Parts: sequence; structure tokens; C-alpha cells
Amino acid sequence: MAKREKAASAAGARFDGLPDALLDWYGRHARTLPWRIGPGERGRGVVPDPYRVWLAEIMLQQTTVPHAAGYFEAFTRTWPTVEALASAEDGDVMAAWAGLGYYARARNLLKCAREVAARGSWPRTEAGLRELPGIGPYTAGAVAALAFNQRAAAVDGNVDRVFARILAAKGEWKDEKRRIADLVGELVPEDRPGEFAEALMDLGATICTPKRPNCLICPLRAWCAAHAEGEPERYPMKPAKKAKPVRFGEVYIVRGASGVAVETRPSQGLLGGMLGLPTTEWREDGKAGRLDWIEGAQEIGEVKHVFTHFELRLRVLTVESEGALPDGYELRDSGSVADALPSVFRKALKLAS
Ligand code: ADE
Repeated sequence: MAKREKAASAAGARFDGLPDALLDWYGRHARTLPWRIGPGERGRGVVPDPYRVWLAEIMLQQTTVPHAAGYFEAFTRTWPTVEALASAEDGDVMAAWAGLGYYARARNLLKCAREVAARGSWPRTEAGLRELPGIGPYTAGAVAALAFNQRAAAVDGNVDRVFARILAAKGEWKDEKRRIADLVGELVPEDRPGEFAEALMDLGATICTPKRPNCLICPLRAWCAAHAEGEPERYPMKPAKKAKPVRFGEVYIVRGASGVAVETRPSQGLLGGMLGLPTTEWREDGKAGRLDWIEGAQEIGEVKHVFTHFELRLRVLTVESEGALPDGYELRDSGSVADALPSVFRKALKLAS
């Protein structure tokens, strides 16, 4: 029996042939992505660059492929190797990350690059990768499989969706997630774990999409209980998301002769280490008050932004700056600084332009 079939038989005869069908489909339909090598290339001895694989995984944790692609190109142009990234200035990396969100990722990205550069090589196993900053179970599995072709599973929300449909999973979502992780782990073929992970990513992104999955052309249709039931979009059956609390505050566009006032935010906390516009506290009770060093500001509107744990509504005010700015603030050209600001501040600046 081939290794692949053995893996599938451990998961039960019900999944016989599934990994092969998926890999055959991948051989014909793999997406071309800047951090990947082509299908079949691993078999011909081509090895992906672990730096590029890892960088893409970190960027793609909360970001779509089209949004991440431009950032990936810019990062790898500026810092083509992990050693180059390790030697970068913190502020330059944070500015290059601006707009990708979840800024703790960028801080961990640098820590991780510096640790790998100091070690002189990447750990090749899931367990070794887990010890690096910013690498959780998903990323460790993905990098082990994609970069080092280790028999590891990369189960993210997309893979959960694909297998919730295959299993027509109706139980408690946290139990079903465990069942899915176990099943995917068993199905990973010993000889092509990297391509298996990439194939699942591509299937989730192009066929088994959240809305209107294209079952007619799905290579896994024969194994899919949700397709047999006739309503695959019903899955995954996750508990309803709790409404996010709303926080309120004010943000100021303080204009001086050479641009707008910005600060580098404290390294700990929200948007830590990023450039930011002057802003009050952000509070649920709406009692953030004003920034006391700013006088005579005019309200021009509101911006909204959704963070992981709350929604933010910021009143935007503009004012001409007279005299010196308080310590910690500097004027920066409003056109060029926009790219280095997190999205919430970019929105405020845009409103004022
Ligand atoms: N989603 C998460 N990681 C990915 C990758 N390496 N390629 C495409 N989509 C992904």
C-alpha cells in the first residue's frame, strides 16, 4: 500500500483516495504565489526559501492574499534575507508593516528574525519552530510542511471550513475543530506534506469558499457529506460571534509648517511601536475628554475602525499648530507619512485632506 493510502486508511476507509484526488487537482490548478515554488518542484529537489514561507505566513494570518502580496514584495525587496530583516531598524519595519494591522505580529516578526539570524539557521521541525517568537501551532505546522516538507498539518479557518463540510460537522464547534485537526493530521501524506497543505489552502480560497462554494468542480465532492446533504454553505456551524464593545475618543490633525504632528506610540499596548496621530484615550464610557495641549480644534467628522476586541469611533478634529509641540511629537509631511500610519489614522488623515 502506498504511504498516502496508509495515512488515509488510518483515518478510516471513508477517506481513501482523498489525498490523491486533492494532490492531482493541485498539480493542475495550483495558484502561482510569490512565496511558493511550483507544484511538483519539491519532487525535483527544489527547496522553498524558509524566510519567504515564514514571512508570508505571518502576513497572511489576518490578511487576504491580494492585500498581503504587495507588502510581501516590498518586504522582500528591502530585506531579501532573514539576516537583512534582523539588521533592520525597528521603526523602518513598523512603518513598512503599517496597514497590515495586528502590529504585535510585526514586533514578533523582528524578534523572530533576530533569533533565527543569531542561531544561524531555521529550526526544521514543528516543535522547534514553536519556540520562536510569534509562531503558534498553525504557523509552526505551515512552515514545517511548506518550507521543510515535514509531515505536519496547517489547519486554519479555511481548512476548518473545508473539513466541516466534508464531515457535515454538526457538533459543538470546539469539539468539531479538534476532530478536524486530528483528521487532517492523519490525512497528511508522508511524501508530499507541503503540497498537501498548499492544496488545502487553494481549495479553501478558490472552490470551498465561505459563500457559494463551487461544488461542481470540487475534487473532494465524492467525500463531502455537506454536498450530499445539498446545503454546504450551512457549514461550518460556529457559535454566533459576540457583538464587539464600542470605544470612543478623539484624534487630531495638527498642522504645522512642515506637516502634521505624529508620535511613536509606546512599544507596549495597542498599535505599539507604530507612528500615530495625537489621540485621546479610547474609552467605552465615551469620557475620554480632550488632549489638553490642543486648543481651538474644529471637528470635521468621524472615522470608524474595527479592531480584534472592540470597535472604535474617533471624532476627527483639525487645528493649525502654533509654537512648539509637546515632547514626543514631531511634524511629518502628510503625504508621505500616511503610508507609515496604521489604517485607523490613515482614515482620519484622509478625511482631513
Ligand atoms: N493562507 C495562509 N497561508 C497561505 C499561503 N502560504 N499561501 C496562500 N494562502 C495562505
